[in-house]
Amino acid sequence: MKFIKATDYMDMSRKAANIISAQIIMKPNCVLGLATGSSPIGIYNQLVEWYQKGDLDFSQVTTINLDEYKGLSKDNEQSYYHFMDEKLFSRVNIKKERIFLPNGMEKDSTKACDDYNNIIESCKGVDLQLLGIGHNGHIGFNEPGEEFKAKTHCVDLAESTIIANQRFFSTIEEVPKQAYTVGIKTIMQAEKIVVVVSGEEKAEIVKEAFFGPITPKVQASILQLHNDVTIVADEAALSMIEL
Ligand code: F6R
Repeated sequence: MKFIKATDYMDMSRKAANIISAQIIMKPNCVLGLATGSSPIGIYNQLVEWYQKGDLDFSQVTTINLDEYKGLSKDNEQSYYHFMDEKLFSRVNIKKERIFLPNGMEKDSTKACDDYNNIIESCKGVDLQLLGIGHNGHIGFNEPGEEFKAKTHCVDLAESTIIANQRFFSTIEEVPKQAYTVGIKTIMQAEKIVVVVSGEEKAEIVKEAFFGPITPKVQASILQLHNDVTIVADEAALSMIEL
């Protein structure tokens, strides 16, 4: 695992955006695995800025997002599709038909997951997977449990995740209790993985996930077994480890 130390959130975002931008320049038709949440917002802003300057071209890029809430439509303001559209897709020249997220409106979980697995397969592999990490060590919505789930599945969100995500909703009751998420095998099959982590409140999980035992109780710990993981983290997030 490679650690890149950033001074703060802005610096982390710029450094991680540089890696993604290099990927797009080196392989214009690359497949990017993308995440939502607070961690990647600065990266998306930076990528948009470089696109506006004419330094980046998304016209051949394909994106596969990690997850989507079950029951939320694309135009629901809390859906991950809406988040991605607002933060990135509508601001760059990516083709709409090359944007993929699980279909939150598909009630049949088996169908929703099979469909997404087929999409992922048809894209023939993720070149670069961007990840954030939850306070409980989740990646995507792979919550702590007894096993690593391989492929796309429907999850009951952990209470801590529902509480953490409440900030995007008016009331806790509005936070969906289930989501579709890609599995750990899909994440691990990416050629390259970039994890972004910021803030003191993530310092403990950084230590546990990347320096503790590999266990499904801390799903991100599996990343220790991948041969090309770069963790871009700010000083606060790295405050409990020595590099
Ligand atoms: C989002 C996702 C989640 C987040 C994680 C961290 O698509 O897959 O695993 O990356 O919950 O969220 P933030 O960045 O908001 O702390």
